[in-house]
Amino acid sequence: MRLDANAPRLILAPLQGFTDAVFRTTFAEHFTGFDSALAPFVATMPAERIHDRYFRDLLPERNQRLRIEPQILGNDVEGFILVGRRLGDLGYPDVNWNLGCPFRPVTKKRRGAGLLPFPEQVGDFLEKVLPAIPGRLSVKLRLGLKSPLEILKLLPVLNRHPLREIVIHPRTARQMYGGRPDLEAFELCAQASRHPVVYNGDIVSLRTYNELSARFTDVAGWMIGRGALSDPFLPEAITSGAEAASFNVQRFQAFYEDLFGRYREALSGPGHLLDRMKGFWTYFGVHFQKGAALCKRIHRTYHLPAYLELVARFFEEEAQWVAVTPGRASGDAECPAADG
Ligand SMILES: Cc1cc2nc3c(=O)[nH]c(=O)nc-3n(C[C@H](O)[C@H](O)[C@H](O)COP(=O)(O)O)c2cc1C
Repeated sequence: MRLDANAPRLILAPLQGFTDAVFRTTFAEHFTGFDSALAPFVATMPAERIHDRYFRDLLPERNQRLRIEPQILGNDVEGFILVGRRLGDLGYPDVNWNLGCPFRPVTKKRRGAGLLPFPEQVGDFLEKVLPAIPGRLSVKLRLGLKSPLEILKLLPVLNRHPLREIVIHPRTARQMYGGRPDLEAFELCAQASRHPVVYNGDIVSLRTYNELSARFTDVAGWMIGRGALSDPFLPEAITSGAEAASFNVQRFQAFYEDLFGRYREALSGPGHLLDRMKGFWTYFGVHFQKGAALCKRIHRTYHLPAYLELVARFFEEEAQWVAVTPGRASGDAECPAADG
């Protein structure tokens, strides 16, 4: 909820396998700062395969605490219109198009970032889709599939169409999540776009946010993913401008316990629950002094009781919050990667 019109607009990034309705709701109950969330993508598919349960995570009753915008991944016009209309019926006329997914099985079918080198196909798609969906479209994209210059050929095409906004994660798909976001390229894109532009990528601390917001004064919003999973106090620190007041292990633990309890109810069986928690700890571990060691121990655990004991002991004896080391938005080198 946006309480202060002057506060920066912060959007929770979509992280498939992490920022689902359970996470979004629990997060918004424990922390403030986000205005809305972009939900992880639903993919287009043939009409006969689209069942109600496909949209379960997006149902309005499961998303009362944090406003969401759904995201669609796909390149087939018919399929996109179909999913767009179903989402419109659910109460989401505005949707986002995923042009950023970097994974080879997706990109080789010219979906996600795989479409970035093909501006004509994108233009053709927009021409047909825009008049046929119930609301407005926004686009989330990277700089290119292989080259950061691809976006410069795409932007004139996007400029010709009435988009709500574009979200730019200034990396190529080939980079995946490595290296640094290309801020020079972002600057060029922000100048070349006639649509409002949202910045996304590696906002992991108040300092990173302050640096970016001082440099890019015209952006329409800031999208934060891994940084908020590693430091759930970050959106609050950004909107209040005060980092130090935010860190609080007890508040983190209360959030974690609610999250765990809800996944325990929602997921079928201890294996799924443990897998989900292993994923979260690759991020949660980042800000704790012995977080990397805990994360490794958790990843070597295959039984729920052992996991519960590890985490309980950690909170009792070891949990100490530390400021972030730049470049460690996720537990990358320290822990098996969760970036699916
Ligand atoms: C595990 C994982 C899942 C992701 N799922 C999606 C997704 O469903 N849709 C999307 O547009 N981006 C997805 N992304 C990309 C993020 O939304 C975001 O663009 C990227 O992580 C950079 O932002 P950050 O540094 O703030 O995390 C995903 C990233 C990760 C690590």
